[in-house]
Amino acid sequence: MLKNLLKNKKGIIFGALDEKSIAWKVAENASLQGASFVLSNAPIALRMGKIEELSKKTNSSIIPADATNIEDLDKLFKESVSKLGGKLDFVLHSIGMSVNVRKGRDYTDQNYDFTIKGFDVSALSFHKVLQTAWKNDSMNDFGSIVALSYIAAQKTFPDYNDMAENKAYLESIARSFGYHFGNRNKVRVNTISQSPTMTTAGSGVKGFDTFFDYANKMSPLGNASAEDCANFCIALFSDLTKSITMQNLFHDGGFSNTGISEQVIKDLTS
Ligand SMILES: NC(=O)c1ccc[n+]([C@@H]2O[C@H](COP(=O)([O-])OP(=O)(O)OC[C@H]3O[C@@H](n4cnc5c(N)ncnc54)[C@H](O)[C@@H]3O)[C@@H](O)[C@H]2O)c1
Repeated sequence: MLKNLLKNKKGIIFGALDEKSIAWKVAENASLQGASFVLSNAPIALRMGKIEELSKKTNSSIIPADATNIEDLDKLFKESVSKLGGKLDFVLHSIGMSVNVRKGRDYTDQNYDFTIKGFDVSALSFHKVLQTAWKNDSMNDFGSIVALSYIAAQKTFPDYNDMAENKAYLESIARSFGYHFGNRNKVRVNTISQSPTMTTAGSGVKGFDTFFDYANKMSPLGNASAEDCANFCIALFSDLTKSITMQNLFHDGGFSNTGISEQVIKDLTS
């Protein structure tokens, strides 16, 4: 195992709620790899979640921010740079929530106030994070910014609901902002399209267990775990991936390129 991949690197990790969260695993791993960082989440999540435990474990501070609120983000980036003693090398956007999904509204029966709220939290917040980092000139050259996505951006998964559009928008932001951040600061911007993962956000989707099982049987390598996703995030934050930007990178055990698997055929014919 390579060690100290993030030695002397500073960052912000959004979205660690509890030990199942992908961001939680990223924080644990980043700490082991020598990074120092600030943990951030929405004020309500700080009250409900277990982030204090993670902050102790990783020796990191917590700065609350609603990722849809520009003032919160501005304060977060300014305070993080000051607390960490310099500009940032990495940012993880691990944020997602659909109000329509939460309230059990079907894709064909959306409440558009819910749709707009979910879009703001899950997709536009990524632009807000990037723009705040950009305007504050918070990133070091060759820094790396990663957001987490899902293959429903490309293919239809009916119960993923309006999150499909949110992920498509999120991935597009990585390409568009990645161009500007690359030109100005050589900062990389990518999304990782992760397998279904048993987390609070994941298991909120209707029929998630079946979803999870199906993807597992379709993928030659099986579903990618949250731990493996964290490893991939660390690789993207490290200097080993300095020329990767504006990409949506599938981290899914091969699911995205599999038409059907023998296991699924067997299940359907038995
Ligand atoms: N779990 C999966 O199956 C799966 C698969 C692919 C991609 N993803 C993506 O991974 C990311 C992380 O999700 P997770 O699965 O770890 O679940 P999670 O529920 O642990 O994380 C979601 C986080 O978003 C935070 N959040 C919600 N509203 C916010 C706001 N207004 N401001 C700041 N933070 C806010 C929550 O507090 C929570 O910490 C999401 O973007 C999700 O869509 C998840």
